[in-house]
Amino acid sequence: MSAVTGHTHTDTDRAGIVRADVGHTDVESKDVVGSPPVAQPAYDIAAWRRRIPLLKSLVLMNNCSQAPQLDVTREAAEAYLDSWNNAGMDWDAWMAETYRAKVEFARLINASPDDIAVSSSVSEATASLASSLDFSGERRKVVTTEAEFPSVAHVWQAHAKYGLEVDWVPVRDDIVYLEDYDDVIDERTLLVSACHAYYQNGYVQDVAAIARKAHDEGALLYVDAYQSLGVAEVDVQAMDIDFLASGNLKFLLGVPGIAFLYVRPGLVERLEPAVTGWFGRADPFSFDARRLDWAPTAARFDTGTPPVINAYISRAGMAAINEIGVDAIAAWTGQLTRRLVEGGRARGFQLHGIDDPRRKTPSTAFVCPEGESHRVEALLLKRGILAAARGPVIRLAPHFYNTLDDLDVALDALKAVFEEDLSA
Ligand SMILES: Cc1ncc(COP(=O)(O)O)c(C=O)c1O
Repeated sequence: MSAVTGHTHTDTDRAGIVRADVGHTDVESKDVVGSPPVAQPAYDIAAWRRRIPLLKSLVLMNNCSQAPQLDVTREAAEAYLDSWNNAGMDWDAWMAETYRAKVEFARLINASPDDIAVSSSVSEATASLASSLDFSGERRKVVTTEAEFPSVAHVWQAHAKYGLEVDWVPVRDDIVYLEDYDDVIDERTLLVSACHAYYQNGYVQDVAAIARKAHDEGALLYVDAYQSLGVAEVDVQAMDIDFLASGNLKFLLGVPGIAFLYVRPGLVERLEPAVTGWFGRADPFSFDARRLDWAPTAARFDTGTPPVINAYISRAGMAAINEIGVDAIAAWTGQLTRRLVEGGRARGFQLHGIDDPRRKTPSTAFVCPEGESHRVEALLLKRGILAAARGPVIRLAPHFYNTLDDLDVALDALKAVFEEDLSA
């Protein structure tokens, strides 16, 4: 049992709306999101809202799944289409833009662009990383958690045929306890694979502490930051992270079909991914089929022709996030989280996970009546709220542009869905 005590959470009522239990206020109260909540955003929220056309017709609470289009992301897509249409092809410009996407990603995590590889999905980036590791020795264990997005955990399991052994850190009380890593990380652990935020309910792990545990045993740390980048501060150097992957369509305001992998400099020279392609070479344009050399930087994890139009869009989305500042965003979304948690409590919803805005992203999950979460999502949409169902919960995931009013409207709609629409 953990040192953390006093959990009142039980599974006695999974039906959704009647419990007033909103989670674990006593769990590791350390701030791992970055900026304490503030009463007002530090940026001009009204001006940003005018740049998101979809806000005219919907209340957007689906940022944990797909963030909306901004004027700049649309213009970026059009810039690529114009380039293609006017120049026919402009590989120099297209490659330069792909590199600029790496620059923006690197800024987000305090890395250098040469520490970043571009990929088409987190699944592919993780598979590429896995294919660079050696599971034939004594140290062949990957420790991962039940809170990983399945994709990531599946990649590790699929490498069992190369000798990899998976060991699991459990999800308990809808979260992952830091001390549970101690039971599974040992001298046979090659890598610890931990999500930064849990896709199900936004719970944020203390990855700096996990890094210390991994490194103390001589293991490496891989972090899936897809559910946290853009709303929680990430500094790969301060947190001592070895590898980090993320896609772009959630809080980074991008589109499907592109993802990035950070590889710590100093490690990269020792890694030769079997999932590779011509862009992973020292000189992709040498066209020597017999020579398998390796780019000296993280570009060795690049594979084939990059997803150029996605790079245009994602660069623009990440530039917007960098311009506003993740610290300012986290401060405001922390306030939104508070309102969601308190508003859920006032309406009798059952929270999935914890209620502390310093330990979670704004993704806030409420338990739905069994088997009904996707119907709840559809019914909310009928009421003008775009939210995201996942397993047993409906997630309300606001972002930097949402107001407190948005949350009240969404929470009222959810109450009406629970109390009226589901039984109609
Ligand atoms: C935390 C997390 N990791 C990975 C993924 C999947 O990434 P991809 O589809 O790019 O492989 C998701 C998708 O929702 C996610 O939330």
